[in-house]
Amino acid sequence: MESNILKHDDGPLLLGVMGDPIKQSKSPVLHEAAMRELGLAGSYVPLHIRPEQLEAAVKGIKALGFRGVNITVPHKVNVMEFLDAVDEDARAIGAVNTIVNDNGFLKGFNTDGIGYIRSLKEEAAGDLSGSTVLVLGCGGAARGIIWALLKENPDEVIVANRTKENAERLAREWQSFGRLTACGFEEIKDYTARADIIINTTSVGMYPNLNETPIDVGLIPEGIVVSDLIYNPLKTLLLQEAVSKGCRIHGGLGMFVYQGAFAFEYWTGRPAPIPVMRKAVLAEFGV
Ligand code: ATR
Repeated sequence: MESNILKHDDGPLLLGVMGDPIKQSKSPVLHEAAMRELGLAGSYVPLHIRPEQLEAAVKGIKALGFRGVNITVPHKVNVMEFLDAVDEDARAIGAVNTIVNDNGFLKGFNTDGIGYIRSLKEEAAGDLSGSTVLVLGCGGAARGIIWALLKENPDEVIVANRTKENAERLAREWQSFGRLTACGFEEIKDYTARADIIINTTSVGMYPNLNETPIDVGLIPEGIVVSDLIYNPLKTLLLQEAVSKGCRIHGGLGMFVYQGAFAFEYWTGRPAPIPVMRKAVLAEFGV
């Protein structure tokens, strides 16, 4: 992204994250560690923006000279109408988590899906082409992941959802981009045996429900890759059970780190110092 390379005479780098609530966000820690590592002067601030203030806040990005912001819950869909342009992948996914301000022109991107896939490939799965991937859930997070996954040429993506019609709707919407199969949770047993990778995108197993798993763990084939978007806890019960079946596991922290890394690269044009960013976030978890 040549046009996005940061010019140092532009003054300090102003970045932030808009959400409601926001104080739990680990994004400031992630990005300030990266800025420090690269010697970039500036700040990344948490911005508590209520829905009724979103439009004014987005205009404020230009007025205040912010280089960019991340967008988090609950604004990822609604923010799109206030931008000057939305990248075509973000448009297809239907959500924006990163805004870049190029001289007063605001463009929205989605780095969640590509961040997740980069993390999965680097940390657990390697090449995804030709693989069969079972995705549990089909909400906002799953859309980003499945969209990015389809670009990796998998043999098949099976979308399993509690409400089967939602999975069927998604499979229909994106049927021209790859082989997508929809099923309900009660039918999962018919599909698990052929999965090379299982990805949980639901919140089942998230703190405080530590004793729950999204599927019967007896259905997980031995030795596959099992991935969970949840990062609190860092190792869900699903992942613990997967280890006992000889699986390679992949937790949700990587997605968080890499979505931030892509955003950082869009804003600065510099390679994100990923190990430093990961270490800073892990320190927040006391690891
Ligand atoms: P996110 O942005 O985190 O993906 P979302 O868009 O609200 O959140 O989507 C949540 C997904 O998790 C949905 O696929 C939802 O299934 P439904 O379409 O049936 O609602 C799934 N989900 C949430 N809680 C679940 C539960 N207890 N068991 C199974 N699936 C669940």
